[in-house]
Amino acid sequence: MAEHIAKLELPNNDSIDLPVKQGSAGFDVIDISKLGSKGYFTFDPGFLATASCESAITYIDGAKGILTHRGYPIYELATQTSYLDVCYLLLNGELPTKAQYQAFESMVKNHTMVNEQLADFFSGFRRDAHPMAMLCGVTGALSAFYQDSLDVNDVKHREIAAFRLISKMPTIAAMCYKYSVGQPFVYPRNDLSYAGNFLSMMFAVPCEPYKVNPVVEKAMDRIFVLHADHEQNASTSTVRLAGSSGANPFACIAAGIASLWGPAHGGANEACLEMLEEIGSVERIPEFIARAKDKDDPFRLMGFGHRVYKNFDPRAKVMRETCHEVLDELNVQDPLLDVAMELERIALEDEYFVSKKLYPNVDFYSGIIMKAIGIPTSMFTVLFALSRTVGWIAHWKEMLDQPGHKISRPRQLYTGAEDRDFIALDKR
Ligand code: SDX
Repeated sequence: MAEHIAKLELPNNDSIDLPVKQGSAGFDVIDISKLGSKGYFTFDPGFLATASCESAITYIDGAKGILTHRGYPIYELATQTSYLDVCYLLLNGELPTKAQYQAFESMVKNHTMVNEQLADFFSGFRRDAHPMAMLCGVTGALSAFYQDSLDVNDVKHREIAAFRLISKMPTIAAMCYKYSVGQPFVYPRNDLSYAGNFLSMMFAVPCEPYKVNPVVEKAMDRIFVLHADHEQNASTSTVRLAGSSGANPFACIAAGIASLWGPAHGGANEACLEMLEEIGSVERIPEFIARAKDKDDPFRLMGFGHRVYKNFDPRAKVMRETCHEVLDELNVQDPLLDVAMELERIALEDEYFVSKKLYPNVDFYSGIIMKAIGIPTSMFTVLFALSRTVGWIAHWKEMLDQPGHKISRPRQLYTGAEDRDFIALDKR
């Protein structure tokens, strides 16, 4: 990569020359790793302007609403290919040939079952446990079963762990749902597609055959593609940080699931639908818009805004199209869609949202589609985690493949008490 120099003027007539690195797209970066030698750290809480790593997986241009995976635009990937095709692309850097795709799909299908003992974990949860709590716990527990793929320094271990996680996440996700509704777990079916198998494990029951609806199957696969990866978001950064200590892949992915659960991140799709249900009717939208603008009210319009996109989230566009396709196909008249469409129209005209560049994000429409498919709100973030597992793994692998990778260990600006002498208890 080409390098330029940024000269930083410091107090006491000091200065330091910092190398500027250029990538293949996006902002250049100033390498501040030598700044410590001058007695300074940089300060950027929330990492608004900090590049944590070098990556070749996903590129986002927030101003232009661009999202590409290994150079391919998300719209083409979401409308012209499948989730497993995108998984191969994210993990290997290129779209697979037909033979490569078939081999990849076969590997994924041969790892869809989980150790039968894993089912016993669920009996320890209350039936009303949040599915994300179960997913997080059970995923972390996978390291207790698959002890032959824990050595992160062994490329073969990394590869088999990646397949196990991509293959088993739908099985575990569906087990979380079945457990919460008191129905028996449904075994994976390798004669179905990745999305079709997930729908079968979610909605099939032993007493009758289950037929996958092709429109729902396509929508499900598209939701998986649209959530597969998104650069250094909070949960992906969590996985990278956990992986930098050498933690096993199952523990790292469980950490990513925990981070994704937050309502400011992957929990927004669940929170968005709850917000639409709370608004309830088009007439009440102004009341909630006012609350979202009120600095004293912590309420935010869930499904709006994004740290990077200061333009339309390109995933929301595809999700919006899919939303109408699914509702038309299933002949669902969901009043929440009317509320969502009117909320979107009002927000996109309102000076507050326009000035702060708050547009609908990927979570705004996904919840309506999942609700139409029959997926309960509490499972929305589980599906997000299922989809994002491949992105987390791709970044985890990329980090471990990078020569000289170190444990991530940020510094701080200390503002606590200065040195002082200890005072014994009887003298306090
Ligand atoms: C995801 O990073 C990723 O890539 C994430 C993700 C992925 O694929 O991994 O894209 C998935 O997490 C999408 C985002 C889902 N979250 C939500 O929909 C929750 C609602 N959105 C907000 O919480 C917020 O927009 C964030 C968290 C998404 C972004 O927050 P930022 O970048 O830290 O922005 P901010 O909180 O500093 O807000 C800037 C201003 C503030 O007002 P001022 O202090 O400048 O006066 O905009 C306001 C905020 O109050 N604002 C909102 C708002 N979002 C921001 N006001 C009302 N409603 C909102 N939704």
